Amino acid sequence: MRPAARFFLALVIGLAALVGVGYFVLARTTQRWFDADLALRAQLAVTSARQSLLRNWEVNRPRLRETLTDMTRDERIMSAAACSMHGDLLAATETYPTEFSCRSVLDRMHGEAPGPTAAWSMTPELPSGRVHLSVTFVGDGPPQGAVILVHDLSYIDRREATTRNLLISSFFVLALGASLITAVAARLAWRGWTSDLRRALTGDASSEFQPLLRDVRSLAARLASEQEREARGGLWSPERLRATLTQHVQGERVVLLANREPYIHQRTDQGVEVWHPASGLVTALEPVMRACSGVWVAHGSGTADREVVDEHDRVLVPPGERSYALRRVWLDEAEENGYYYGFSNEGLWPLCHVAHTRPIFRAEDYDHYVKVNQRFADAVCAEVDSDDPIVLVQDYHFALAPRMLRERLPRATIIAFWHIPWPNAERIGICPWRDELISGLLGASIVGFHTQQHCNNFIDSVDAFMESRIDREASAVVQGARRTLVRPYPISVEWPVRWVEEVPSVADCHAEVRRELDLAPDARLGVGVDRLDYTKGIEERLLAVDQLLTRHPKLRGVFTFIQLAAPSRTKIAHYRELDERVEALVEKINAKWSSGTYRPIALLRGHHEPTTVYRLYRAADLCYVSSLHDGMNLVAKEFVAARDDERGVLVLSQFTGAARDLTEALIVNPYDLRQAADALAAALDMPVIEQRERMRSMRRLVSEFNVYRWAGRMLVDAAEVRRKERLSGRFGMSLNQREGA
Ligand code: G6P
Repeated sequence: MRPAARFFLALVIGLAALVGVGYFVLARTTQRWFDADLALRAQLAVTSARQSLLRNWEVNRPRLRETLTDMTRDERIMSAAACSMHGDLLAATETYPTEFSCRSVLDRMHGEAPGPTAAWSMTPELPSGRVHLSVTFVGDGPPQGAVILVHDLSYIDRREATTRNLLISSFFVLALGASLITAVAARLAWRGWTSDLRRALTGDASSEFQPLLRDVRSLAARLASEQEREARGGLWSPERLRATLTQHVQGERVVLLANREPYIHQRTDQGVEVWHPASGLVTALEPVMRACSGVWVAHGSGTADREVVDEHDRVLVPPGERSYALRRVWLDEAEENGYYYGFSNEGLWPLCHVAHTRPIFRAEDYDHYVKVNQRFADAVCAEVDSDDPIVLVQDYHFALAPRMLRERLPRATIIAFWHIPWPNAERIGICPWRDELISGLLGASIVGFHTQQHCNNFIDSVDAFMESRIDREASAVVQGARRTLVRPYPISVEWPVRWVEEVPSVADCHAEVRRELDLAPDARLGVGVDRLDYTKGIEERLLAVDQLLTRHPKLRGVFTFIQLAAPSRTKIAHYRELDERVEALVEKINAKWSSGTYRPIALLRGHHEPTTVYRLYRAADLCYVSSLHDGMNLVAKEFVAARDDERGVLVLSQFTGAARDLTEALIVNPYDLRQAADALAAALDMPVIEQRERMRSMRRLVSEFNVYRWAGRMLVDAAEVRRKERLSGRFGMSLNQREGA
């Protein structure tokens, strides 16, 4: 039932109850009045006939009856009787009812009445209707007897009925009148309100609707444009991203700044080779740059990089396709040691990852970091072709660059994306240059992270260490006239992944990989793909495989885990030590479970091209991502993208950003070896139908939330920021002034 109907029903019931109670009280009061009135009348009648009664009492019964008959001339007194004090009938009128014998009436009176001198009345029911009985004692001094008068009460019933009818009809008349008045008033008010609203909607403004109207209009416009975009665009693709760039950012070319270059030219014995580096950042951004074109500014780290660039240190990539320019910046050894190995990877990397490696902060490293950030910022400025370019600054290598760029290009739209976790304020607080890092990032128009949690941590850090105003509702930081949005943009992979088209079918990959590894055709296979980095939980992963074989003997000789491990940052002692530890652990576990040619773990160290990785993804029964802490982890999403057969199980660490997106994976705590081993066993035992359901759902998510959408959403937000900044520039107002208005 609707609330209005419920209210109306309750109102009717309430009113009826009120009328009922009112009627009851009224009836009771009237009854009392009548009783008192009748008792008084009886007394008066007896008092006026008193002389005659006393004269004839016991001595002249016929005269006594006449006196009684005289008393009944009052139309309301039906009959009368005279009784002795012993209850004998002395005389009675003809119509006196036999039901009320003197004895019974006097007995009852003695039982109930307070004293013998008072008049007493009762209203017994006779078949003929209600009557009132009054008893009045007579006598000089002590009473000689009593006179009983019977009153006709039918007139009371008649009056009561008339009163009741009158009351009920007035209630209905009143209710009808009230309803009519309410209906007329509501109708008039509604008419006034709708005509106001109509006038407001047609622009003929009526003041009180203006704020509401503004909100409704902007909401409707937002929904419409969102819907139109979705309907027009469907899945995000390179074309749609390009269209977004043209439509929202007027086709300006994008300048991207990232330390790692997407293509590394390496000199080998066979000549110059092009390598695709193992980097989640590159995996995600390379398709974006191919779609948008523009320039990627990066450190030229390949041994043959200098040989292939033009006089502006540029080379068009991808090789053979030449969609965008790669601008290389050269670093000498001291710069690379200080900025890349030192401050970025011995300081910021362990600071931001909860992997229990102590960060090292050296002042000389930081000095290099500042200098190199400036060098890259200068290179970006040399690449832009307008004074308000769109610059995408990537990752922890360039925390200072956004502010440096802002100083040189005040009108630029700068999007800084932090690909690794942002720690809580307490943790970031241990960095001696935390203020500079935060302030550097706040030079951007938008600062993006993978998860809301990292956004919250960043905002808390700003709150703890910066002079600024935080607009939590808009998730923005305001410093003077500048506003920086802080937003989550969960990164992803391209869809479809181009490498999938370059590798054989799943069935072929399944057979070929087992043959190449010298495994039985029906061997069960798990895969791990990582840089050799202590945040990836590689040791925990190998120990989980050991546990799996310990707890599930039937898998010994059957299950093999292949770990692809790309050497990384090997100048840093922690990385070298990890490499050694991993190798020793593999040897130990293999020694424990080997039999004949069977080895449970195959560690393939070295650089692996994407096609090798994708063949393995497609051949495996499961993929285990066991990061101890990871901003997103794109291996998880790559595995999902690789499985167009909708088979295979992803076992995923709960400490990755990906675990928030890929909820149909088997989510584990990688430190809990028993839980991880059981998840691996469950993955190997999982019925095909369940694998399919889980994989289908994850594929739907990754296809929809692909990297083009990631970039597209950032560009759309950037366009919005840009539009606002242009407007505020045109009107010569600072953001603060506008906010205050
Ligand atoms: C992480 C970082 C990237 C980096 C990648 C590889 O994914 O977020 O910025 O490129 O690791 O590390 P490397 O030091 O080899 O570039």
